[in-house]
Amino acid sequence: MSFYVTTAIHYVNAAPHLGHAYETIAADVMARHMRQRGEDVFFLTGTDEHGEPVALAAEKEGVTPQQLVDRNAPRFVDLMPRLNVSNDFFIRTTDRQHEAKAQEVLSLIRANGHVYEGVYEGWYCPRCADFKTDAEAGEDSTCPIHRIALTREKEDNYFFALSAFQDDLIRLYDERPDFVMPRHRCNEARSFIESGLQDVSLSRSTLTWGVPVPWDESHVFYVWFEALLNYYTALSYARPGADLTARFWPAQFHIIGKDILKFHAVFWPAMLMAAELPLPEHVLVHGFLLMRDSSGKEHKMSKSLGNVLDPFVMTDEFGADALRFYCMREVSFGHDGSVSAAGFAARYETELANDLGNLASRTIAMVQRYRDGTVPAADPDPDLAAEIDGAADEVAQLIDRADLSGALEAAWQRVRRLNRYVEEQAPWTLAKDDARAADLDRVLASLSEGLRVIAVVLHPWMPRSTGKLLAALGAEDVALEGARMRAGRLGAISELDQLFPKPQ
Ligand code: MSP
Repeated sequence: MSFYVTTAIHYVNAAPHLGHAYETIAADVMARHMRQRGEDVFFLTGTDEHGEPVALAAEKEGVTPQQLVDRNAPRFVDLMPRLNVSNDFFIRTTDRQHEAKAQEVLSLIRANGHVYEGVYEGWYCPRCADFKTDAEAGEDSTCPIHRIALTREKEDNYFFALSAFQDDLIRLYDERPDFVMPRHRCNEARSFIESGLQDVSLSRSTLTWGVPVPWDESHVFYVWFEALLNYYTALSYARPGADLTARFWPAQFHIIGKDILKFHAVFWPAMLMAAELPLPEHVLVHGFLLMRDSSGKEHKMSKSLGNVLDPFVMTDEFGADALRFYCMREVSFGHDGSVSAAGFAARYETELANDLGNLASRTIAMVQRYRDGTVPAADPDPDLAAEIDGAADEVAQLIDRADLSGALEAAWQRVRRLNRYVEEQAPWTLAKDDARAADLDRVLASLSEGLRVIAVVLHPWMPRSTGKLLAALGAEDVALEGARMRAGRLGAISELDQLFPKPQ
């Protein structure tokens, strides 16, 4: 079966921060897990390069928008290998093929009768690149998100007749209660729709940095409409000479942050309905990474507030796996959560170096010392096997429900279980008594196989370290169906460098 997962595409008006990395890591965990299940996976991420935020940032820096995006987009492209993210394509919305395909779909929406000409008069936030209703603007006309003064705009626009889709959208939410996940975000989107939809601007005539409207070149498309289409356009040109649309559209998951819910849960399905294209299966909404200030108050990590953690610095110091693990472990997926450099260092030591790293090095050292480097072909302990063998199915079910941190916890329970097993069985005591050689065989086989199974299950979160561990165990296959304890699967093992060494 095909499985298509996307992240939001990131604005390139500043360098990427951990909030951007977070979403990309989440999508990568899903993509890698689905590949382990043998699915035909396509994973898309990229950059959103048009619109007012980019035009304003370029103006401030005294460069052209194109110069700005060409300078900044590589920072996002470079972040992917640094996070060991396995995206199948990286879209830039200034790609000519994206622009042409977006024009094609938007023209189709017009041909289907959902576009009309009018005048927009109202509030606008240049940072959100979003038009605000009077209710959102409040009495003091400020952006509720950025707390900056909104501008009053009056300009000729083409409009998308969003209000005509109100009933169709309600029907969608009735028929597919998991269209938006988790449930509380679905309710939020639904009440937005029920409160009454207004038509929205599809084009801007006062901006030039954007994709030209093909039927009226004095306008460019409003950036959100063109940007949302990236999920669809990318498939048409990601592989030169092949169109992947039939193979992967509609997407299974669009992963986004809660601030852009309206665009993905309301505008996007309405646009696809207007173009008569199939809708994605799920919009999966995560919370924000927050940072505490010196008084302990939590704020969204954001470039405009300047309270950001730099994923490049963090991966330099601790490695990509550690950062991936930390992000997925520290914050319950779907909710907001605070992160910090100190919290990261603490989890690195207690969970990665101690719980997993020591378990791996101890197990390998004991097989080397007591059995000359060969895992005995004994049957694993049945009680232990029952617990460890449950991991793969449990993790798969949790991932299907998009509970990425719950799935990691389910895997981690098995890491703790194996650590308890070492203490309970005390192989170092068994090794002193020749009469208990068969018991020692069983314990070492159980530990080695258990470790192999856990490494397979944990692979999507920590591909590099689990890969190293599996290589040392002489069993590199990461297919999830092999994540069951069996006798005699392992043989000779090899040296393992410390998986999580003390940071430099
Ligand atoms: N360009 C638009 C998205 C267009 S999608 C068709 C955009 N870009 S963004 O760069 O501002 O944000 C990209 C993603 O990063 C969003 O999903 C946003 O929620 C997420 N995050 C940005 N800061 C974040 C945190 N502090 N924490 C978690 N995610 C955050 O919006």
